[in-house]
Amino acid sequence: MSALVIEKLSVVFGRFRALDDLSLAIDPGEIRAVIGPNGAGKTTLLDAITGIVRPISGRILLGDDLDLTRRSEAQIARAGVRRKFQKPSVFPALTVRENLEIGAGLGCPASERSDRAAMSLAETGLEARADTPAGSLAHGEKQWLEIGMVLASRPRLVLLDEPVAGLSDAETLRTVELIRSLRRPDRAILVIEHDMAFVEAIADRVTVLHEGRTLFEGGMAGARADSRVIEVFLGR
Ligand SMILES: Nc1ncnc2c1ncn2[C@@H]1O[C@H](COP(=O)(O)OP(=O)(O)OP(=O)(O)O)[C@@H](O)[C@H]1O
Ligand SMILES: [Mg+2]
Repeated sequence: MSALVIEKLSVVFGRFRALDDLSLAIDPGEIRAVIGPNGAGKTTLLDAITGIVRPISGRILLGDDLDLTRRSEAQIARAGVRRKFQKPSVFPALTVRENLEIGAGLGCPASERSDRAAMSLAETGLEARADTPAGSLAHGEKQWLEIGMVLASRPRLVLLDEPVAGLSDAETLRTVELIRSLRRPDRAILVIEHDMAFVEAIADRVTVLHEGRTLFEGGMAGARADSRVIEVFLGR
């Protein structure tokens, strides 16, 4: 049983192969980091999983059997796949609580929405900011709010693109604790990040992407010791 299976996935832009026959599988409950140099295809992988780009071949399965490959973005979101984009995209004029209610989904009954918002407030530690407009939060708090909006939808697959980019060391440490606290047996988390200390602190396994292919998969200690990973990425 896997939470997510990527089978021989290829994505092309014109004549350029951004993903090249890429395969990977993530276990339920796993926190996986995808790392690699600029242009390796990391964001394209998230775009393919969430239906923003169409692969030319290969398959994307949620939980072994639900084929997401040809689904629309909305269908994929409804299946429980939620993404935090690199740049925080919260609604600045709305309060933290209202943003979290939107994260729960408009199809969700009002009482359920407010319960989920309360739970996300607790999970992200933003209770004291509940009635603050999101636009006046610090950068780190906006990142946590957006993670909270993802959580409020009760996702089974969480995709985070560079969640600690631009955060202070203290904010990064708090984000480590937050992401670790999100682990559930029925939820998988895929994180893209360039901060290797952060990756080492949160990930069960890392996948090193290079030119749209897997260069290495395993523990961070193994990645650090791998001569090809050092050559194309860590040794820069
Ligand atoms: N819509 C697009 N049209 C054309 N080329 C694209 C498109 N999206 C991505 N690419 C190219 O595909 C390659 C992979 O890009 P991608 O954004 O997936 O890299 P990345 O691993 O996320 O890099 P970074 O670490 O810089 O965020 C890059 O060479 C990029 O220029
Ligand atoms: Mg990227």
